[in-house]
Amino acid sequence: MNELNPPERLLMGPGPSNVHPRVYKALSAPIVGHLDPIFLEVMEQSKTLLREVFETENELTIPISGTGSAGMETCFVNVVEPGDRVVIGVNGVFGQRMCDVAERCGAEVERVEVPWGQAIDPAQFEAALKTGGKTKLVAVVQAETSTGVLQPLQEIGALAREYDSLFLVDAVTSLGGVSVGVDAMGIDLCYSGTQKCLSCPPGLSPITLSDQAVSVLQSRQSKVQSWYLDLGMIAQYWGETRVYHHTAPISMNYALREALRLIQEEGLPACWARHRQYQEALIAGLQAMGLEPVVDDSKLRLPPLTTVKIPDHVDEAAVRKQLLAQFDIEIGGGLGVFQGKAWRIGLMGHTSKPKSVIQFLAALETCLGSSTERASGLTAAQQVLERT
Ligand SMILES: Cc1ncc(COP(=O)(O)O)c(C=O)c1O
Repeated sequence: MNELNPPERLLMGPGPSNVHPRVYKALSAPIVGHLDPIFLEVMEQSKTLLREVFETENELTIPISGTGSAGMETCFVNVVEPGDRVVIGVNGVFGQRMCDVAERCGAEVERVEVPWGQAIDPAQFEAALKTGGKTKLVAVVQAETSTGVLQPLQEIGALAREYDSLFLVDAVTSLGGVSVGVDAMGIDLCYSGTQKCLSCPPGLSPITLSDQAVSVLQSRQSKVQSWYLDLGMIAQYWGETRVYHHTAPISMNYALREALRLIQEEGLPACWARHRQYQEALIAGLQAMGLEPVVDDSKLRLPPLTTVKIPDHVDEAAVRKQLLAQFDIEIGGGLGVFQGKAWRIGLMGHTSKPKSVIQFLAALETCLGSSTERASGLTAAQQVLERT
């Protein structure tokens, strides 16, 4: 067997995104024990940095070992008990996944659905909350990676409070790329993933829980059905007692700390503005090439992930294949109702930079061949990139 030698791809799919060189360096630092004073310091620093990026004062703010789905599962299994009513917004794959996870916890799930590609109207949540008895939890995906929709949170958060329900938000593709505003939006449980706007490999899932969510967790009637994701025990290891629960993934925790330091150095608002500006440049370029975004309303477009409609005459899989083989560029195909109909183009974390936009548009023009005017996309994108 040969030594593994993967190519340097430009990762412009729905995640993972490219890893920052400083994060790669952190990954290769020597391993210490999971109770070593140096590692305990890393843990404390990561908790502080995570609070900044989640925009929260929540004490229980930690990375869960595992990918974004581990964070999703952690949030549900710790507060939902059999028979609890939960209301979940569904407008794409990840809303559906939340329903599946909640059902596995024995919850009575009420879906609030809209067609894929649209945001959910808070009035629909209100209608679901008004009927059907006490709702323990309201859940929604802020950044639907399957559709490219950015879900506004404020009104849903206010409704959850009014009806005395916990508010859970999936921020896997938003954290670091868009404001999540955990405290300002009244979010009680929130989870993310390291491989999107945090410029890290996949492997950790940052989560944060409000005091109210923690008190719900502490007053459970039944044991959390997952031993590995039981926050009661995990919080002890991440808290003052440091009681061993499972061996923390040391290198990934180094990586996350470095990635969060990068965001702190850039400044969160600057980081959000970068994601927004480079998406605008990408869309200007695509539109100049005759391609249209799936999400009409620019305010509802998710800056880290753009979905674009595929023209009828284009063989979408062949284009993705050529982008990868000839230009080392990965983009994503459509999921669910968008399969074969849309591409998903990510500009997340370290990938969100002018070079990515220009390289991608130039490569796409080559792949689409005579169907587009030469260099039209590059010119349009350049105008947005030059804006200060
Ligand atoms: C919005 C959203 N939620 C949850 C997940 C699940 O994360 P993971 O694949 O890291 O387990 C993803 C992954 O793409 C996602 O985009």
